[in-house]
Amino acid sequence: MSRVSRRTLLTGGLGLTGLGVGAAAAGVGLAREDAQPEPSTLPFFGVHQSGIVTPMQTHASFIGLDLLDRSDHDALRGILRMWSQDAANLTQGKAGFSDTEPELASTPARLSVAVGLGRGAFTSPALAGRRPSWLRPLPAFAIDRLEERWGQTDVVVHVASDDPMTLAHAVRAITAPVRRRTRLRWVQQGFHHGRNLFGQVDGTVQPADDRHDDLVWDDGSEQGWMAGGTSLVLRRIAMNMDTWEALDRHGRELSTGRTLDNGAPLTGSNEHDQPVFTATRGGIPVIPESSHIARAHQRSDREQFLRRPYNYDVPPDSGLIFAAYQRDPVVQYVPVQQRLSDADALNEWTTPIGSAVYAMLPGAREYLGETLFG
Ligand code: HEM
Repeated sequence: MSRVSRRTLLTGGLGLTGLGVGAAAAGVGLAREDAQPEPSTLPFFGVHQSGIVTPMQTHASFIGLDLLDRSDHDALRGILRMWSQDAANLTQGKAGFSDTEPELASTPARLSVAVGLGRGAFTSPALAGRRPSWLRPLPAFAIDRLEERWGQTDVVVHVASDDPMTLAHAVRAITAPVRRRTRLRWVQQGFHHGRNLFGQVDGTVQPADDRHDDLVWDDGSEQGWMAGGTSLVLRRIAMNMDTWEALDRHGRELSTGRTLDNGAPLTGSNEHDQPVFTATRGGIPVIPESSHIARAHQRSDREQFLRRPYNYDVPPDSGLIFAAYQRDPVVQYVPVQQRLSDADALNEWTTPIGSAVYAMLPGAREYLGETLFG
């Protein structure tokens, strides 16, 4: 059987049509603008890491690790070199360096491996001066009920693929060889669908593609080595399914400001219609001022970031792995999160239980982190 036909069969068997996740997202009945077939491999080398502005794959794992010796930056460089070598192969459907099961590498299904560094990775004297100024904990928010077990780590690896077997194989390739030099703190597994577990269409409003250079990618103006990288805010947000389901459908729509059937704003009829926050009916705002979109909507041009929500479902716990990418989280993300903490109707059913901030490395020419150590 040829490679292509075998891959088509495999993805077909997973319920995906053709090769693309765009088509899978279209399965929710939405006219997604990105519903083009996607090639099944993503580049590993390039100006930016794949897996950040890439149309979302259906499965993802975020791996949080601490360095056993933070003062040893050569050890960190060694880890990044090794991961780069493996990821360069695995993303192209080739076996990893010490792969005992190369068959599991043969269906990359848009595998991406993206690495970020937390504040603790900048402890060694050689790296201390290279930490971006925004790489610090978010302010404490009144809604937070943060659990240490989902907290900040020194390193994060975001692995994503349309095939959960490929993903599992890659996660193994990343974690197994670094066990003597790192401590695995958490793996957050999620899936992307186009809807979240509250049934809401999620991920509609995003920065325009032609604003990525300005809003997402770092230009190196503060830390030269970060040019082409970005920041990741990773929040784990529990969603209370029992109390949400107790609310009637209209109440659920008012809390968000959008309809459940196609995600249109309450002032419109299609998902991508612009919400009209000033519209009233009988003197009452059609989109309540306390609704999630009224509170979250940008109030200045800088208050924009790329949202990549993955669902997690570990019964009885469900929620979102909320990943937000932006050039500067302090300027772009924090004001929005503060408004949501102050008043957001959704807070009644959602609780942030994990929070971490990372510097996502620029893309690799030779290996990830080369500009940091260069
Ligand atoms: C929009 C759900 C947490 C920021 C939305 C939408 C939904 C949603 C359904 C409307 C569709 C869309 O544009 O994607 C949720 C749920 C959350 C959550 C269930 C928690 C469990 C957050 C957090 C932030 C955030 C933590 C950032 C601090 C936004 C923004 C928009 C949005 C900026 C677009 C607002 C607009 O301009 O219309 N969210 N969200 N959300 N959300 Fe969330």
